[in-house]
Amino acid sequence: MMHIALILGSVRDGRKSNRVAQHLLTLLQEVPEVTTSLLDLATWQLPLLTDRWSQSPEPNPQLAAFSLELSRADGIILISPEYHGSYTGVLKNAIDHFWNEFKKKPIGVVSTGSGRFGGINASSEMQNLVLSLGAFPMPTKLIVPFVHQTYAEDATPTDERSSKDASTFIEEFVWFSNALLVAKQHHASQNTIYLKHTKKSSQNEMTS
Ligand SMILES: Cc1cc2nc3c(=O)[nH]c(=O)nc-3n(C[C@H](O)[C@H](O)[C@H](O)COP(=O)(O)O)c2cc1C
Repeated sequence: MMHIALILGSVRDGRKSNRVAQHLLTLLQEVPEVTTSLLDLATWQLPLLTDRWSQSPEPNPQLAAFSLELSRADGIILISPEYHGSYTGVLKNAIDHFWNEFKKKPIGVVSTGSGRFGGINASSEMQNLVLSLGAFPMPTKLIVPFVHQTYAEDATPTDERSSKDASTFIEEFVWFSNALLVAKQHHASQNTIYLKHTKKSSQNEMTS
């Protein structure tokens, strides 16, 4: 089983990016052996960062719960509209609370915009953010132009192109996440073999 968490970084009244998030969630729910969760920052309302929560004597319970949600994810998808040339402040604030939770995880980015560029600047900046977290940004991104038209209120794409783009993105993301999961499992078993081997060699050295 593989668990994928989607983080929705749009909390605006009348927001449209939630439609894209909902559609991606639906596509993921159709994939066998995959479980999902949608971490909607409008619902979570994480506090503004004043210090690393994990170092606080009384850790904020919301942050502790969010940390658990991130930790149990094998892969994460960040969804954000472009605001003033970048991804949203609410997404950055949420992510800055955490670090270890993201390490070595596959992360896909999705940007939306009301214009034809679909928030491409936001998507590039999200990929840089992923690198800073010590995680792996998936090379393929999902760019959603004219989001108020390309996604209907019921969260379905209104044209074939948008529908295909979303499906391709999810296919790629499942492949990418699975490839990393298999690599990690292989690495973990190799490490066990390596540890057993070094233990044996040091025992041999001691007895010789
Ligand atoms: C504060 C603000 C800044 C924006 N800046 C940009 C921008 O720099 N580039 C762009 O293409 N669209 C920009 N937009 C348009 C949004 O990307 C577009 O409205 C999108 O639907 C917003 O997603 P949302 O509906 O989930 O909030 C901006 C919108 C807002 C509210």
